[in-house]
Order: sequence, then structure tokens, then C-alpha cells
Amino acid sequence: MSTKIGKALDFTPGSATRVVMNGTNIAVVRIGNDFYAINDTCSHGNVSLSEGHVWEDTKELECVKHGSAFSLETGCPNTLPATRPVTVYSVIVKGDEVFIEEPAQ
Ligand code: FES
Repeated sequence: MSTKIGKALDFTPGSATRVVMNGTNIAVVRIGNDFYAINDTCSHGNVSLSEGHVWEDTKELECVKHGSAFSLETGCPNTLPATRPVTVYSVIVKGDEVFIEEPAQ
């Protein structure tokens, strides 16, 4: 099942935006015309990843608190101190609308 989260133009390239899907905070990152979505809560602490820096070349989102850089493709932290991955969501763009696919249970 997919949930509409907005229009493509709502998301600024090179930045992260926090959206809420069924009560879960999700960080949506746009790099060029590609979209990525990972759980917004850092696995190392109760910190919003969407407040952090987007590294476009390595497709990572860096936690603003201690600097762990999470892969937007796998959800894994590529740098310490975080060691556990965050959930990755599939993003679907249909026309100018953006949807997030809920992970299979
Ligand atoms: S809270 Fe995110 S790396 Fe520590």
C-alpha cells in the first residue's frame, strides 16, 4: 500500500524533509529527480535525521547530533557512533506526485 506524501515540487533537491505516514516520521530526501525515504529517527538517539546534512555524492543523510551518516539506499550507518540501520521505504513518483510504499510486514 502506498501513501501520497506530496508533489515533487514540494521537495527541494539536496535537502531532507520530514513527513508523517501513519504516525511514523520519515525523512524524504530528494537528490536531483531521485527520491529516497528512511525512518526519520536516528538509531543512536531520539534525533530527527531530516534536520541533518544531505551528502548528495554518497547518497547519505548525516545525523545532526553525532554525525553518523546513514545510507539512503540501505539505511545502514556508514560512520559511527550509530551501528543499527534505519528502515528504508520505497518512493514512487507518478507524474508530479510522490508516494511512499509501506514496507511489507
Ligand atoms: S543521535 Fe544520531 S548519531 Fe547520535
